[in-house]
Amino acid sequence: MTVKIAPSILSADFARLAEEIKEVDKGGADYIHIDVMDGHFVPNITIGPLIVKAVRPHTNLPLDVHLMIENPDMYIQEFADAGADIISVHAEASRHLHRTIQLIKASGVKAGVVINPSTPVCMIEPVIADVDLVLLMTVNPGFGGQAFIESVLPKIEQVRELGGPELDVEVDGGVNRETALLCKKAGANVLVAGSAVFNKKDREAAIAEIRGTV
Ligand code: DX5
Ligand code: ZN
Repeated sequence: MTVKIAPSILSADFARLAEEIKEVDKGGADYIHIDVMDGHFVPNITIGPLIVKAVRPHTNLPLDVHLMIENPDMYIQEFADAGADIISVHAEASRHLHRTIQLIKASGVKAGVVINPSTPVCMIEPVIADVDLVLLMTVNPGFGGQAFIESVLPKIEQVRELGGPELDVEVDGGVNRETALLCKKAGANVLVAGSAVFNKKDREAAIAEIRGTV
């Protein structure tokens, strides 16, 4: 199975965001991963719909928007209008997860659901058939550059088993050349990588390394 690579712009140089996105686009990225944090659900504040709208004209790659915010329902339409192609919400942040997923679909974009390392897969089992993507956090969300949590690996296998071959099973946090191998082996087909891509000068080589093609 060839994996898709989704560079997370959290580790990019925000003052040169358009150029950074063009570089990873040219370097073979499949998605652009955008980390939205509100300072409540996670202890960091990052990007809002304005930035999604600003980067939209600079790439044709799907914008994979990862919402780490409370009250996600309030902002879904805004992110869809700003140019998101996939919107993922944390199961821990939505009171009525099924409704939130339907809202994402009604906004015209693909729907994803995310769980933290300590959240069991059974929390999302009832909605797996409704989503296009399941994102498994392999760090506690909030910051780039953290260490991969290996105890999440059996959850990747579980989600692949439940979702079947068509589901996008994405992994986010601490992904590098070595941990990418473990994720692929467990059944993930979309790998998010922030520091492992943007902290390297040659983005094409970094992406190929994570994909496992060099
Ligand atoms: C963490 C974010 C990640 C982050 C990953 O909360 O969701 O997308 O950018 O960064 P690395 O790849 O450096 O762990
Ligand atoms: Zn993310």
